[in-house]
Amino acid sequence: MDELRVELGERAYPIVVGPGLIDDAARLRASIPASAAVVTSERIAPLYLGRISAALRGAGVPTIEIVLPDGESAKTAATLEMVYSALLEKRCDRKTTLVALGGGVVGDLTGFAAATYQRGVPYVQVPTTLLAQVDSSVGGKTAINHPLGKNMIGAFHQPNLVLIDTATLASLPEREYRSGLAEVIKYGLIDDLDFLAWLEGHLDALLARDAQALTHAILRSCSIKARIVAADERESGMRAWLNLGHTFGHAIEAGLGYGEWLHGEAVAAGMVAAADLSARLGYIGTADVERVVRLIARAGLPVAAPNFGPDRYLGLMRGDKKSEAGAIRYVLLTRLGVARVEPVADAIVAATLATVATG
Ligand code: NAD
Ligand code: GLY
Repeated sequence: MDELRVELGERAYPIVVGPGLIDDAARLRASIPASAAVVTSERIAPLYLGRISAALRGAGVPTIEIVLPDGESAKTAATLEMVYSALLEKRCDRKTTLVALGGGVVGDLTGFAAATYQRGVPYVQVPTTLLAQVDSSVGGKTAINHPLGKNMIGAFHQPNLVLIDTATLASLPEREYRSGLAEVIKYGLIDDLDFLAWLEGHLDALLARDAQALTHAILRSCSIKARIVAADERESGMRAWLNLGHTFGHAIEAGLGYGEWLHGEAVAAGMVAAADLSARLGYIGTADVERVVRLIARAGLPVAAPNFGPDRYLGLMRGDKKSEAGAIRYVLLTRLGVARVEPVADAIVAATLATVATG
């Protein structure tokens, strides 16, 4: 088992990584002092819910289970209310720790329930998708979707523990797994050229889900995210780098209708757009852009975005949470391994869209 820490003073917490951790009763017990409510989805429950509940109960933790509908379409106020109702019906009090067992949808929604139930209760993240293990479970961003926008209702609420059982990835469908790789590649691009080179050298091992390569990729990703979150918890500066490709990506998801492309797929094409834009601004060269495209394509992820036309893209992107007074702020690459955030003239963005949004 490997361990990292998110250094946030009195809200600091560990990230533990290893195979079989959902059965580790002692590790769970150490972060859950009283009772637990495990929140998961219909798809994950048959795979892992019985095991984690057995571990908790075996360690003497009174445990209830809450099983929600699955997927992004269930990341809603109605599903959130199901969690509140179950907690109230079972008379869960402020000492109850919520345990989010699942992907980013379960993690974000459970985290928001924990931020708000009885003005805030503790929670533990047990991420089971690659995307959640390298990104959404770390950093305390919690949210649900609103019909008018994704992740528009939420709170910052840090977990007490992130417990990453790498063995749970064995059951993850291939498309979901590759979608998670987009976020792993993101860390190399924004922060760590050596990691980017390592990814280029080990992509085949990662695609084969080689345990050693996977553990290294998860640890490296989490340590980059932990450092950025510790430096800028509320995203007043460098945390925005974590949104490389997401401004274009969210426009792709919204434009196609949520669920058509997976989040990581949209981010992958969005990172190609961000690289192209960075080259147009003279920050990186065309060889760098080609390097980004090659790696993303090798990961089996899209390198071209759907063609909605520049006006629709710009309209969708103005709704991004990074926009300020209607000005879209893009995460760009100053060079590979170094990010920056700035507004860009619409005409230059349109030129990027003409090159990348050709699908
Ligand atoms: P998801 O939670 O919908 O999971 C994808 C699918 O895989 C679901 O059907 C799920 O049931 C299934 N699944 C999960 N684990 C499995 C396993 N081990 N075996 C088999 N099937 C499994 O999607 P996701 O990609 O994990 O997360 C996407 C969400 O994360 C989005 O809502 C996005 O907004 C959010 N997100 C949040 C942050 C953050 O910082 N909070 C960061 C990135 C993304
Ligand atoms: N996934 C972006 C963030 O956590 O800030």
